[in-house]
Amino acid sequence: MADLREPWSIGPVGIPTRLVLAPMAGVSVQAFRRQGRRFGAGLVCSEMVSSAGIEHRNERTLGYLRVASDEHPLAIQLFGSDPFAMAESARMIEAAGADLVDLNFGCPVRKVTKTGAGATLLDDPAHATRIVASIADAVDIPVTVKLRRGMRDGSRDCLAVGPRLVDAGAAALTLHPRSAQQMYTGTADHALTEELVALVDVPVIASGDICSHTDACDVLERTGAAAVMVGRAAQGNPWALEEIVEGDDREPSREEVVAELVVFLREAVRELGEHRASGFLKKFYGWYLGHGRFPREFKQQLVVLDSTDEVEARLFAAAPGALGLVERLEAEIPAGDAVTLPLPISIYGGG
Ligand SMILES: Cc1cc2nc3c(=O)[nH]c(=O)nc-3n(C[C@H](O)[C@H](O)[C@H](O)COP(=O)(O)O)c2cc1C
Repeated sequence: MADLREPWSIGPVGIPTRLVLAPMAGVSVQAFRRQGRRFGAGLVCSEMVSSAGIEHRNERTLGYLRVASDEHPLAIQLFGSDPFAMAESARMIEAAGADLVDLNFGCPVRKVTKTGAGATLLDDPAHATRIVASIADAVDIPVTVKLRRGMRDGSRDCLAVGPRLVDAGAAALTLHPRSAQQMYTGTADHALTEELVALVDVPVIASGDICSHTDACDVLERTGAAAVMVGRAAQGNPWALEEIVEGDDREPSREEVVAELVVFLREAVRELGEHRASGFLKKFYGWYLGHGRFPREFKQQLVVLDSTDEVEARLFAAAPGALGLVERLEAEIPAGDAVTLPLPISIYGGG
């Protein structure tokens, strides 16, 4: 049986478990990543960050570069299509304190692909390798790439492109073996992951449809991948990460669910501000409260409340025992403000 508690590494970066928390746009904020680390993820990843946004010093984009001292090892994921601008962005990612820079060669969303970024790069291996080489040359931290199987259904392009990316300097590859055309339909075809593992001599991370300890062990054994990546199964469900790493299936109590949700909510407000956080958090209420046997109406009531203070009050009213748990958790976890690393001066330095 594969042991997900075995440490491994990408270049010089040591990773304590074989579970990687997936980059997810609109989900993978610092609060999500820090909680993921507490529940057993060995490596966490930011959502994709726009190279053009960094280049133009977009304030919201720069916010994605904020790293907390207790989330290492951490990858910050970059998307773009201009090798020079991306190399400059990668330098900033390194200066911001990331352990790895991950390149997004898999995003299927039109807004991204029409700019020549994301999964379209799988159709242009020469340009994809230029990007990797340019970034590997610019930074000392390892460069990794996350890819889909190809643009169109049935594509096997990842097997032709993957080894070229490694030759260009990629220190690890993550494969989500669906096509861009598939988006999230159908299933991830990990037979391709197995083929990719056989073709490259760097660690391969298997992404797609891994929801349980059994799934994870099965994929690791079948493919020879170094680690599994977990995305949707971890949304509002840090207990799934614990189960995937440890194999102990433990349904959290109502108090635990509320306590983790409240800590997450407070962290999100600190990170994003009340206004952005209250919109961002709405999808998380349904996800978290899928545990702890909460009635459906309760989740619907939370979504329409005006402030996160009111949400907290309702949550504590539904599970008063959670108050003590939150106090205990917050005493153990350093406050976000105290652990967030300052952004490098160069980010504000124009140029
Ligand atoms: C809401 C959402 C946002 C995502 N955003 C990103 C992203 O920013 N970068 C990326 O490489 N993959 C992104 N993905 C893909 C995931 O990282 C992962 O490869 C995919 O969901 C398959 O894994 P899963 O079955 O464990 O969810 C996203 C997926 C979801 C569901």
